[in-house]
Amino acid sequence: MKTLLIWGAGDQGTVTMDCALAMNVYSRIDFLEIKGKGCREIPGYRIYQEEEIDLDDFLNSYDEVIVATGDNQIREDRITLLMAMGISVATITHPTAVISPTAKIGRGCTLFANAVIHTNAAVGMGCIINTAAIIEHDCIIEDFVNVSPKAAMAGHTKIGKSTFLGIGCTIIDDVVVGKDVVIGAGAVVIQDIPDCVVAVGVPAKAQ
Ligand SMILES: CC(C)(COP(=O)(O)OP(=O)(O)OC[C@H]1O[C@@H](n2cnc3c(N)ncnc32)[C@H](O)[C@@H]1OP(=O)(O)O)[C@@H](O)C(=O)NCCC(=O)NCCS
Repeated sequence: MKTLLIWGAGDQGTVTMDCALAMNVYSRIDFLEIKGKGCREIPGYRIYQEEEIDLDDFLNSYDEVIVATGDNQIREDRITLLMAMGISVATITHPTAVISPTAKIGRGCTLFANAVIHTNAAVGMGCIINTAAIIEHDCIIEDFVNVSPKAAMAGHTKIGKSTFLGIGCTIIDDVVVGKDVVIGAGAVVIQDIPDCVVAVGVPAKAQ
């Protein structure tokens, strides 16, 4: 059994905890609050504050660390720091997630209950693949993407770095979504989306 630090003690931190507990591989789980990102009460768990610790010694005292925030930029910054410090970045996978043996998953990802990562799909570093999201065969998801619950990507789609896919959105096959994009809840994406836009609706259009 290993020790786990969840860096982030807000909503994302608590759902990540559930996922980590279901894995049944961690003997102790603690939290480190991300300053300014909100902190929930988590009964029975110790929540440390960033300003009260010596970061280097503290992070090194855990077997693994997972960064748990929906903010893609903060997740990227913290994971980059952990890797530069040589700290073991966890990949948290709920036991009900279905992952093809041919799929590739980067370090620092969290895969929630009933997520599906199908044949030959590639998920980059530090991604969130939320509850019941479907990443079909041959999709490419670049680093630090946040996929909301029940988002569905058809085969051969590509999602650029740090993009957010809203809850229940659908992306048809072969579409390329740029980096730093926000796809709204329930959108249906039927054509390529450029970088750095918000796209909503059916069919999805950049606002
Ligand atoms: C797309 C989104 C980010 C836009 O948020 P926002 O910038 O605050 O936008 P607003 O609420 O001000 O809406 C702006 C306009 O877009 C429309 N709009 C917003 N979201 C929309 C959506 N998902 N589908 C269709 N239209 C949408 C609004 O009706 C509004 O239209 P109007 O100007 O004609 O009145 C947000 O609405 C959304 O869909 N977020 C996804 C949340 C989610 O999936 N959370 C899961 C967490 S796990």
